[in-house]
Amino acid sequence: MTKVKAYAALEEKGKLVPWEFEQRPMRDNDVIMDILYAGICHSDIHNVNGDWGSNPDGFPMVPGHEIVGKVVKVGNAVKKFKVGDLAAIGCLVDSCQHCNPCKHDLEQYCENGMTGTYHDKDRVDGSTTYGGYSQQIIAREEFVLRVPTNLDLKAVAPLLCAGITTYSPLRHWNVKPGDNVAVIGLGGLGHMAIKLAHAMGANVTLFSRSPNKEADAKALGASNVIISTDATQMKAAKGKFSLIIDTVPYKHDLKPYVNTLSINGTLVIVGYLGDTNDILNTVPLIMGRKSVAGSVIGGIAETQELLDFCGKHNIVSEVEMINIQDVNTAYERMLKSDVKYRFVIDINSLK
Ligand SMILES: NC(=O)c1ccc[n+]([C@@H]2O[C@H](COP(=O)([O-])OP(=O)(O)OC[C@H]3O[C@@H](n4cnc5c(N)ncnc54)[C@H](OP(=O)(O)O)[C@@H]3O)[C@@H](O)[C@H]2O)c1
Ligand SMILES: [Zn+2]
Ligand SMILES: [Zn+2]
Repeated sequence: MTKVKAYAALEEKGKLVPWEFEQRPMRDNDVIMDILYAGICHSDIHNVNGDWGSNPDGFPMVPGHEIVGKVVKVGNAVKKFKVGDLAAIGCLVDSCQHCNPCKHDLEQYCENGMTGTYHDKDRVDGSTTYGGYSQQIIAREEFVLRVPTNLDLKAVAPLLCAGITTYSPLRHWNVKPGDNVAVIGLGGLGHMAIKLAHAMGANVTLFSRSPNKEADAKALGASNVIISTDATQMKAAKGKFSLIIDTVPYKHDLKPYVNTLSINGTLVIVGYLGDTNDILNTVPLIMGRKSVAGSVIGGIAETQELLDFCGKHNIVSEVEMINIQDVNTAYERMLKSDVKYRFVIDINSLK
């Protein structure tokens, strides 16, 4: 069995430390990649800290689901990849492949539960899945993606989660040129949402708590910035947006944002995962035929579509590269919104 070097949280809320795991046995439909780059998503922090429900059995945990690397081994039945190809893996490495959502390229909503890239169990042998903060990853070929050759590889990694998570709702709610779209929070997801919505021709507004991010938001493609802590600015945006993508990770009042939706408008929550008691009022929903919705990442075909879209429009993430030894500092900085706009680990530093 192959031993793989990694960084892991050994227990809930634990710091990430050097660790090694045994890779599960290879199957005929598997691809093995040497990892070059792995992005750091706020979900990694939530998972390590048990923010979405305590799960002490899920440790040691090797986070990371924004993965770009090079194929080093393929199983006998693999058709799509050969040794030496560049490839990528996002948030899921398997699904049942036969339920209704799976049959419609919506593996992320698999009725039998998708298999997460880390902090999950392999469907075949029950082994633990380990993510991108490691030297190698194994996955069945259907869940491995092709990378456009014209893009900067390290800045491609965040497309695998931050990119697809914002692309999928923009597509699902059919964003068109001239639509007024808003994004809440300028972090990893937020900056990708601005870039992608702008590339689709939308007029993009950023809601942010951080006045110092205004110039960056405009450089990324936003035409307007609203400081969300300023009640006057919030009220002035009443009825303006047909779609709002809310990337805030923690519980927050939705009511001021619902007020800025147009009739038929939708607020899509991709960040905060929890109950909405006291933060939502149904009256404006009813009186304006408005919706509050949720969305999780995207399916495999849609993720490939996003990567190809980014290749065509020359879109990548704004990244700050780090060595893996600095991952704990990166987590602390991310919790203070001090990242422009995605940390990416150079996995070479793990050697
Ligand atoms: N649904 C999915 O499939 C999916 C996929 C990936 C990630 N996520 C989730 O999406 C969320 C965002 O992830 P990310 O990686 O983009 O995080 P991030 O880089 O830390 O960015 C989050 C941004 O939200 C704003 N913010 C942070 N804390 C806040 C608070 N307490 N109140 C109000 N605003 C706050 C900040 O922007 P400003 O400074 O501009 O206010 C911050 O930059 C996380 O909860 C993550 O788990 C969901
Ligand atoms: Zn993520
Ligand atoms: Zn399924």
